[in-house]
Amino acid sequence: MDSSKTHSSESMPGDLSEALKEATKEVHEQAESTEFMKNFQKGQLSLQEFKMVMASLYHIYSALEEEIEHNKDHPAFTPVYFPAELHRKAALQQDLEYFYGPLWKEEISCPEATQKYVDRLHFVGQHEPELLVAHAYTRYLGDLSGGQVLKKIAQKVLHLPSTGEGLEFFTFEGVSNATKFKQLYRSRMNSIEMDPATKKRVLEEAKQAFLLNIQVFEELQKLVTQHHENGHPAQQKPELRTRGTSSRAHEHGPTPVKEGKKTPIKHTDMLPSTPLVRWILALSFIVTTVAVGLFAM
Ligand code: HEM
Repeated sequence: MDSSKTHSSESMPGDLSEALKEATKEVHEQAESTEFMKNFQKGQLSLQEFKMVMASLYHIYSALEEEIEHNKDHPAFTPVYFPAELHRKAALQQDLEYFYGPLWKEEISCPEATQKYVDRLHFVGQHEPELLVAHAYTRYLGDLSGGQVLKKIAQKVLHLPSTGEGLEFFTFEGVSNATKFKQLYRSRMNSIEMDPATKKRVLEEAKQAFLLNIQVFEELQKLVTQHHENGHPAQQKPELRTRGTSSRAHEHGPTPVKEGKKTPIKHTDMLPSTPLVRWILALSFIVTTVAVGLFAM
């Protein structure tokens, strides 16, 4: 249906794409200014944080794409069904294998807020499929927009190879021009037949989708902060892991570069660093030992 035929109300632009952009403007700003995202944009990102966010995204996209497949023939979704161009699950699997190694599935966890998002995606897919477009819009158009900036930052800060390993998630092989593709996606969204009440629910669901993303970031930030406060290097908390027994954080991929990263303290690190001071200390030790020995005699 063309946009002129869509119902509009005083507060809603006629086109779904316009209405979505307007309705989510505030929550988008909120998402951009979460501590996690602000740090990411400043390049303050450790490998471990990146691995954690990629693991959460894997759970989110697995659920989203499972529900998309269930609903690909639903008239409220078919126009925006673009698996070859958009789907991210396979790309995330490759990235996780790069970072965690072949046993990545056993190494990653699903924190609470991520699980909440996953549950909502399944609920929508199974009970309110007319709202699924809100979730697809929130993630895929976001990935095609700000996601491209984040890719460059991660590549630079984490010293990821320019060949793209570890960053497949951000690479849309099937989309040669992101701006044009987003235009196509918007026009397909606008072609979905929708009564005003449903449209209102879709807008609300998109705002919820942003809030679910914000909660995922906030929880990851909290986990990372707690871990730093406990004096641990920025590695995944043991209780966050599933069945894995060893952290393979550094077996695959590059070394983290975030400021404040702590390396284990060796005993020799506690000795004075200059040879002269070491000699003086050793000499004092010998003199004291001899003196104590003489005194004892
Ligand atoms: C550091 C964080 C972020 C930055 C820098 C950022 C940046 C941007 C930019 C510049 C655009 C406009 C692109 C254009 O008009 O072509 C955009 C659009 C968008 N972003 Fe973000 N974004 C961020 C986070 C997020 C998050 C967390 C989400 C949701 C999970 C999101 C979802 C979207 C969506 C859905 C659009 C498309 C809006 C529309 O055209 O209707 N963004 N973003």
